[in-house]
Amino acid sequence: MRPALVVSVLMMLITLCAASAIQDAQTKTPPAQKQASTSDGEKLFETNCLRCHKPPENLSPRESKTVLRHMRVRANLSEKDEQAILQYISPR
Ligand code: HEC
Repeated sequence: MRPALVVSVLMMLITLCAASAIQDAQTKTPPAQKQASTSDGEKLFETNCLRCHKPPENLSPRESKTVLRHMRVRANLSEKDEQAILQYISPR
C-alpha cells in the first residue's frame, strides 16, 4: 500500500469514530426534570453570574426579581434557571 492511501484510510476511520461518538451523546436521554432547589440556584449563580459579580445583598424580593429579569438576558438563562437563582438570592 502507498503511504498516502494508508493515511487517508486512517483519516476515514477517525472521522467515523468521531461521528458515532457524537451520535451516542445525542441519543442519551436527558436526566429527569428536577424541581428547582436552592442549591441548584447557588450552582447556577456560580456558573452564570459570579464571573461578573458576587451574590447581591439587601435587595427586596421585588427588586431581585426585576434585576434578575435583566440579568437573565445578560447571562442567557432559561426561565427555569432564573427561578432557581431567584430562590437562591431571595429566599422567602
Ligand atoms: C455580563 C456580566 C453580568 C452577568 C453575567 C450578570 N450580571 Fe448582574 N450586573 C452586571 C452589571 C454590569 C450590573 C450593574 C447594574 C446594571 O448595569 O444594571 C449588574 C447588577 C446586578 C444586580 C443589582 C445589584 C445591586 O446591588 O443593585 C443584581 C442583583 C444582579 N446583577 C444579579 C445577577 C444575577 C443573579 C446574575 C446571573 C443570572 C447576573 N447578575 C449576571 C453584570 C452582569
